[in-house]
Amino acid sequence: MGAALEVAGLSVVYGAAIEALDQVSLAVPEGGFVALLGANGAGKSTMLKAISGLLRFENGRVRAGRIVFNGEPIAGLPSFALARRGILHVREGRFVFPTMTVEENLEAASFARGKRTPQAPRRVYDEIFGYFPALARRRSSQAGYLSGGEQQMLAIGRALFAMPELLLVDEASLGLAPKIAAEIFSILARINAERRLSILVVEQNVSLALRHAAYGYVLESGKLVQEGPAASLMDRENLSKRYLGGQAAAHASP
Ligand SMILES: Nc1ncnc2c1ncn2[C@@H]1O[C@H](COP(=O)(O)OP(=O)(O)OP(=O)(O)O)[C@@H](O)[C@H]1O
Ligand SMILES: [Mg+2]
Repeated sequence: MGAALEVAGLSVVYGAAIEALDQVSLAVPEGGFVALLGANGAGKSTMLKAISGLLRFENGRVRAGRIVFNGEPIAGLPSFALARRGILHVREGRFVFPTMTVEENLEAASFARGKRTPQAPRRVYDEIFGYFPALARRRSSQAGYLSGGEQQMLAIGRALFAMPELLLVDEASLGLAPKIAAEIFSILARINAERRLSILVVEQNVSLALRHAAYGYVLESGKLVQEGPAASLMDRENLSKRYLGGQAAAHASP
């Protein structure tokens, strides 16, 4: 199985001095489901922003290393060009247009892939509503009135609407009830299996992420400190205690 994404020796700085990532390497196989774990400030979001071209909006830059997508180097390309190639980033914070309906939010996302996307809108809506029945029920509601879980589903749905080849998801479970967070991860796993969509998730809820991902990486203060198949990481009992801090340990549920 080839790699959809390969990051090699990536170092990222913000401004002149703050080093957020220090020579980090990771890979997402084609059709793979990979989790990037770590405590607050470990550099997880920075990794996703480096991959999707969002660093430049925060005065960040790649200082060293390579990012290769489908065999081509992509570091430094602008985010719109990366979206057209199929890299879609669901940012932390569930960005949706609050005064637009669910359907309008989805439709607005179709621009992300530009002219290259052959649109078959009805079919695409149906597919997304098939994955997220909760959204289907609220398709004509304003997004601002949705629950947190529904807004997260909509944020993911918007990325799917742009027909990604690599989906980056930052802290999908943050602030959601455990049952809703679990539901969202089950849906991501189903999309990964059925559409062979490559997925890289960032999570503080270690057990939730490792239940669905096949492989995991752990960052600590910008450095990669652990990696392995999800089952083996889950077995390392003090993983959360050593690298993820009290908050993550508190998150972890059986
Ligand atoms: N825009 C920015 N400007 C300067 N420093 C930043 C910026 N964004 C992040 N940092 C710093 O880079 C480091 C990594 O931050 P990052 O947001 O990637 O961590 P994270 O693992 O996503 O944390 P969290 O779990 O809190 O979301 C931190 O030290 C943070 O303070
Ligand atoms: Mg983050």
